[in-house]
Amino acid sequence: MKVLITGGAGFIGSAFVRLVMAETGWRIVNLDKLTYAGNPENLASVAGDSRYRFVHGDICDASLVESLMVEENPDAIVHFAAESHVDRSILSPEPVIRTNLRGAFTMLEAARRHKLGRFIHVSTDEVYGSLESPVEATEDFPLNPSSPYSASKAGSDLLARSYFVTFGLPVVITRASNNYGPYQFPEKLIPLMIANAFEGRELPIYGDGMQVRDWLYVDDHCRGILAVLEQGRDGEIYNIGGNRSLPNLEVVRQVLTLTGKPESLIRYVADRLGHDRRYALSSEKLMRETPWRPVTDFETGLARTIEWYRANASWVARVRSGEYCTYYDAQYGAHRSLQLSV
Ligand code: NAD
Ligand code: TYD
Repeated sequence: MKVLITGGAGFIGSAFVRLVMAETGWRIVNLDKLTYAGNPENLASVAGDSRYRFVHGDICDASLVESLMVEENPDAIVHFAAESHVDRSILSPEPVIRTNLRGAFTMLEAARRHKLGRFIHVSTDEVYGSLESPVEATEDFPLNPSSPYSASKAGSDLLARSYFVTFGLPVVITRASNNYGPYQFPEKLIPLMIANAFEGRELPIYGDGMQVRDWLYVDDHCRGILAVLEQGRDGEIYNIGGNRSLPNLEVVRQVLTLTGKPESLIRYVADRLGHDRRYALSSEKLMRETPWRPVTDFETGLARTIEWYRANASWVARVRSGEYCTYYDAQYGAHRSLQLSV
């Protein structure tokens, strides 16, 4: 089996590559542009393996993608590459629209010209929008995205589905909840709070901190994608959730407890524009059709994640420099008055 991965140098893609390399005999080709979020260090453990090939390039580059398809003739594509952060999509939507829509289109076009066993389009529960408690989205829920990020993911989901209906491309869509774990770029809630807590910096909570997210340990997500790759049905959508809903404030308090830092570090700041109040999803379909279950409970996963960040302070320091400082300043500086001096 040969699998073409896009965005494999990012947080979830790299966890998927490490998992597949460790547990299968498959060949992996990883196409990644190495944006601010892509980091070859995440794949140092597989870099020298003859079953692994890294290709530095843009998924919007149709001729590069086409030549890669001809050269490698993959059995499957797992499409992770995206601009993945809501706040950045609000600050600057253009790269999000380009990569998440044009990039998905380029990958789908290349896939339909070649005989492919499966195209996994990796998506998110954010496409369902904010849901009132106790509703949980099932796969047939209407799409109701709020941010440029979630709208671009919803758009690419629809495009991917159209390639199944119109061209018979064996597309399967996965929609996961909020991931956390090692190697996550410290712009998302959990790694940002861990990194700031370690440095004794303020922890910025948007609005009242009572927004609810469902938390999924990254390896559980990757095993869910693997289950869908091997056992999912063409043309279907599968939710992948952690079955653990928590308000942001509770998550941040747990980070403070586990890092031994005081609650006085919490700083309530201006809310995110268009902030979705609550995400929740049911993974019942995936659990009914495959043996997959989320096996990492939140307390265990969070403690493991914090230990990873503690042991990898130099990784954090390297990614929290340069462009990161410009982003941090734009996001937390002027109107929120939080400084990061690194
Ligand atoms: P990430 O931001 O950590 O990594 C994205 C990767 O894609 C990086 O390696 C980057 O270099 C690469 N990339 C970006 N633009 C590219 C381009 N034009 N061409 C080639 N490569 C490009 O993202 P992540 O958190 O690992 O998310 C991966 C996928 O999972 C995304 O599709 C995202 O929408 C989806 N997802 C993420 C979460 C989450 O909680 N992080 C939850 C559900 C779904
Ligand atoms: P995030 O990790 O950006 O994921 P998403 O927006 O895709 O769910 O944010 C998770 C939640 O945490 C979301 O409700 C926004 C909130 N949040 C903060 O309160 N402060 C922050 O600094 C960040 C990055 C997020």
